[in-house]
Amino acid sequence: MQGSLSLKIAGPAELLLERADGTRCSIHPLWLRERCKDAASVDPRTQQRLQDPSDFDPDLELLAVSQPSAGVYRVRFSDGHEASFSAEEILAEAALDPNDHDCPAPRLWDGTLAELPRVRWRADPGRDELISWLEPFLTLGFVIFEGVPSEPGMVLTVGAMFGFTRETNFGALFNVRSTPDANDLAYTSLALDPHTDNPYRAPVPGIQLLHCLVNETSGGLSTLVDGFAVAQSLREQHGQAFRILSSTPVRFRYIDVDAELTASAPPIELDVTGGLKAIHFSPRLDFVPLFDREQLEAYYRARRLFDQRLRAPDYQIRFLLESGDLVMFDNCRLLHGRSGFDPAEGLRHLQGCYIDMDGPRSLYRVLRRRPSGESSYARRSA
Ligand code: OGA
Ligand code: ZN
Repeated sequence: MQGSLSLKIAGPAELLLERADGTRCSIHPLWLRERCKDAASVDPRTQQRLQDPSDFDPDLELLAVSQPSAGVYRVRFSDGHEASFSAEEILAEAALDPNDHDCPAPRLWDGTLAELPRVRWRADPGRDELISWLEPFLTLGFVIFEGVPSEPGMVLTVGAMFGFTRETNFGALFNVRSTPDANDLAYTSLALDPHTDNPYRAPVPGIQLLHCLVNETSGGLSTLVDGFAVAQSLREQHGQAFRILSSTPVRFRYIDVDAELTASAPPIELDVTGGLKAIHFSPRLDFVPLFDREQLEAYYRARRLFDQRLRAPDYQIRFLLESGDLVMFDNCRLLHGRSGFDPAEGLRHLQGCYIDMDGPRSLYRVLRRRPSGESSYARRSA
């Protein structure tokens, strides 16, 4: 993103942003004034603003712009304030998606993904090692850890390395094994088609971890699909289906004796720029409102197309989680599932938990500030 933007002084009182396509945009004085980093403008410890920008002069102007050294701009404002800015910071601020510009960009994948991102888990990874675990997670949306001790509760230990546990009515962790009194189809031996977990919650849990304690059966293969890759393929090849799936509010519902949860979301959720934000899809839980016949038929066609691709080997990968393997994936981008298994063959027992979506990104940014080669990383304190 930043590579496609540059800064230029256009006159004694004008700073311009130039895009790769040659279009230019004058940097608004208030926009820049809000970004002053001097001690009068921000608290140096928290970097939080000391003045309410609504109190700045609405007719604020730049009186002078100079470049005292390479990459540094000095600006004098009409309210008497003066401040320096680094070009790097201004360009980063000008990027449209502030979540992504300092983390590795997503790399969409399909069923041809040859090499699964498998890493060896350790309890005390160094800074570089931790970054090498986070990179596949941030780009591909998942990472598989091998060698996580097959002990109950380890899923929470691994989750806590990356973010805060998101507790739900299933508990801080949940046991995925076939039980006779199952309150979710995950707790049976049935195959599960690709789905995102808990679309009936607000907010939806961002990241899911599944840790295999034991699998003595020959089935129960895990499946993953990059929902963004499938959504993108629809956007390119079936524009109408994409529009329908990104604008129809579908209701998801979970019910048991202690909980009744409902939430409504389009199967393909877009952000305000039209980019892919989240997938909400669970064929065992989704209910479309009663629209008129024509609208419903268009929706069902679009849903079928989406689901057919989600289940197709062209898009899906399949692998066996063995005892000690743990998969961590983005529950807003990837869909997961499993093949059925025969409980008469033996035990299959996974433990799962959720963590918030922002943990790995925060950790990645913090680690990037630290020197390479550092032997351990400090746990987040806030
Ligand atoms: C789940 C789930 C998959 C599996 O618990 O949400 O989808 O492999 N489990 O059992
Ligand atoms: Zn699931």
